Amino acid sequence: METGKSLAHDSAEIQVTGAALYTDDIVANAGELVVGFVGSPVAHGLLKRIELSNLYRIHGFVGAFTWQDIPGANLFGPMIADEPFLVKDFCEYVGQPIVVLAAENASSLRKARLQVQIEVEEKTPWLTISQALKQNSFAGTPREIKRGDFEGAWRKADHQIEGVFYSNGQEQFYLESQAVIAHLGEGNEILIQASTQNPTELQEVVAHMLGIGFNEVVCTCRRMGGAFGGKETQAALPALMASLVTKKTGRSARIAYDKDTDMHVTGKRHPFRSEYQAAVDKAGNLLGLKVELHSNGGAYTDLSLAIMERALLHVDNAYFIPNISLRGQVCKTHLPPNTAFRGFGGPQGMAVIENLMEDIAAKLRRDPYEIRSQNCYGNSPRDLTPYGQRVESRLPQILNKLHESSDYETRLEKIRQLNETSLTHLRGISLTPMKFGISFTATFLNQANALINILKDGSVQVSTGGTEMGQGLTVKIRQIVAEELGVPSEQVKYMTTSTEKNHNTSPTAASAGTDLNGMAAANACQAIRSRLAQFAAEIFADTQVGLSKSLEAIEFSEGKVWDRRCPEKQLTFGELALQAYRNRVNLGERGFYRTPGVGFNQSTGKGSPFHYYTTGACVAEVEIDRFTGQWMLERADLLLDIGHSINPGIDRGQIVGGFVQGLGWVSMEELRYQEDGKLLSYSPTSYKIPNVGDLPIDLRIELYEDPAPNGSIRKSKAVGEPPPNAFTCRIYSSQTSAWTSFTWQSSSLGNSSDL
Ligand code: MTE
Ligand code: MOS
Repeated sequence: METGKSLAHDSAEIQVTGAALYTDDIVANAGELVVGFVGSPVAHGLLKRIELSNLYRIHGFVGAFTWQDIPGANLFGPMIADEPFLVKDFCEYVGQPIVVLAAENASSLRKARLQVQIEVEEKTPWLTISQALKQNSFAGTPREIKRGDFEGAWRKADHQIEGVFYSNGQEQFYLESQAVIAHLGEGNEILIQASTQNPTELQEVVAHMLGIGFNEVVCTCRRMGGAFGGKETQAALPALMASLVTKKTGRSARIAYDKDTDMHVTGKRHPFRSEYQAAVDKAGNLLGLKVELHSNGGAYTDLSLAIMERALLHVDNAYFIPNISLRGQVCKTHLPPNTAFRGFGGPQGMAVIENLMEDIAAKLRRDPYEIRSQNCYGNSPRDLTPYGQRVESRLPQILNKLHESSDYETRLEKIRQLNETSLTHLRGISLTPMKFGISFTATFLNQANALINILKDGSVQVSTGGTEMGQGLTVKIRQIVAEELGVPSEQVKYMTTSTEKNHNTSPTAASAGTDLNGMAAANACQAIRSRLAQFAAEIFADTQVGLSKSLEAIEFSEGKVWDRRCPEKQLTFGELALQAYRNRVNLGERGFYRTPGVGFNQSTGKGSPFHYYTTGACVAEVEIDRFTGQWMLERADLLLDIGHSINPGIDRGQIVGGFVQGLGWVSMEELRYQEDGKLLSYSPTSYKIPNVGDLPIDLRIELYEDPAPNGSIRKSKAVGEPPPNAFTCRIYSSQTSAWTSFTWQSSSLGNSSDL
């Protein structure tokens, strides 16, 4: 079996030695130009004048381009085409591209940048959700999900709990900034090499902008140095800039943002403001919930509506809520358009209810774990989400198991004692469940195609629309293909992702990269394998006297092929491939996959948007120094049901990485803006992401060994985004005998700030 092995990441060795090629490492073509841009000096203003005359004196300066130079469309956007490539009249965020510059080298480009003069009539920007609400400034229409009778539940409730919960934004902080190289081919042909989760989208936006057919543009991506959602749509602007320069000059053109620029101008995780009302009975059961969510979408729609949708679909997290009324609306502000970030709104929705669970526990003076487990999804009818999808999971078992394996009760008792006696430190512990829906909620995106080539030496090439951003997609797909063909994984190579080999692909996102592309690749392999089995059966029947032709008797394993009835006559996979080729058997195949059974009606807010749920839970124990406020995550235990993992080593990496990224969000990462909308925290010196020292001293990760059923590839479950959610933001500890709450004043979550 090739799946289930912890093979190393495909780029592990070359990343360590520095041999792995990221976009900006690709050797320059002769005459290649360096591209940059000058953006809006203000968050909100009217563009009055662009003065470029001084540029032409600069040695090495090649060209400056504005909206007037765009041959095709200036507007783009993944859901609503409302974002201009280059500002024509209104500047809507600081740094928004106005002029694209091309130069022979970086130093000429720097000089040119300083000589661009831009005049704007500055207007008052609105930056926060509350400012946007005052302006009635929204993107799209509000969305709702409803079930039962919230108002009735609220009136009858023993306890009415209400509040406002805020969660802040977060920078994706991929190490490789946005980077694109464009080359002109014959006629209108253009080739772009990009650091993108979505080569097909770049193909399309570049074609629109140049006013040419999609078929003239090829976009490739070897790998990204991290993306975390930040390259799902936002590689578009640099791709447009490089392509415009190539088109105008006929020369290859490269743009690579520096980190500061990248942080200033690209979108981030959406801040959310969620007003909630909860109806709770004496026993601590959540009988009704109303939440009004607002997100800060930034200046253009980008993916904000889909992110709000996912937030709404995750407010329930792991809990059955009979009466519920959810409403979500995206606010338009003068920040760079906020975009996908690992979890895609899910964490923002889940954080609301996890905070509420702590509220309920505090109010009832109960342990939050009890409140969580008694409200958890369970057997029918308590397994139905507000939108009507059944939750097939092992959530209650996972909670029980982790409760036991983490030694929760004993530790809780110790913490109580410590908090009563220690003058210097306080500790808190919490157990948080997590349920994350797998599939794109835009149903049409749940499709993939794959291309398999078997060559005459028996080596295999696989190409899909899936992109590698560090998550280990390519090694997992190699393992799937190897297993289908009965060859070792080393015999399979994952080829550079290209729109030329795979058409109309979805972004590698929603954690579904391996599910979709792996399934398409497996489908292609099965078709080739049945042709090869047919051919092999003929060979073995021909060469072995008295052996009838039997497809069922053909075995493909460990790079060899044989008939089970005469195992001594083996062919290597390469020998079979060569013979098949000579006998004109087709050794290539395209596979296709569409996720079955998913569908969601946006207007009714009902349906089954997800193929399945990835679930899990986490116990976190934190210690705080009462005097300095310094805190340490002492221990974290995570238990996840990720099905039959295709590569447990890689998945473990995803769990640790995702968890630590979630930890960064709720504890130390903090985006700060000036009043005029300029980002102050735009580099590693002013924006603190977790480092290795912030890892829990004691980190335990277990995979649940009795997975809930699902129809995914090799019964695996997606793992890319769920783990960041498995972290609560508040800790409670007991002083004396009563529960007293200590809100962990984290930078990004809480009841106190306006974002
Ligand atoms: N892991 C690494 N190392 N780098 C990344 O950029 N992106 C995350 C997650 N894990 C990311 C990552 C996000 S946002 C998603 S949606 C998934 O990987 C995408 O890949 P998958 O669908 O193959 O899981
Ligand atoms: Mo991930 S946020 O779906 O790119």
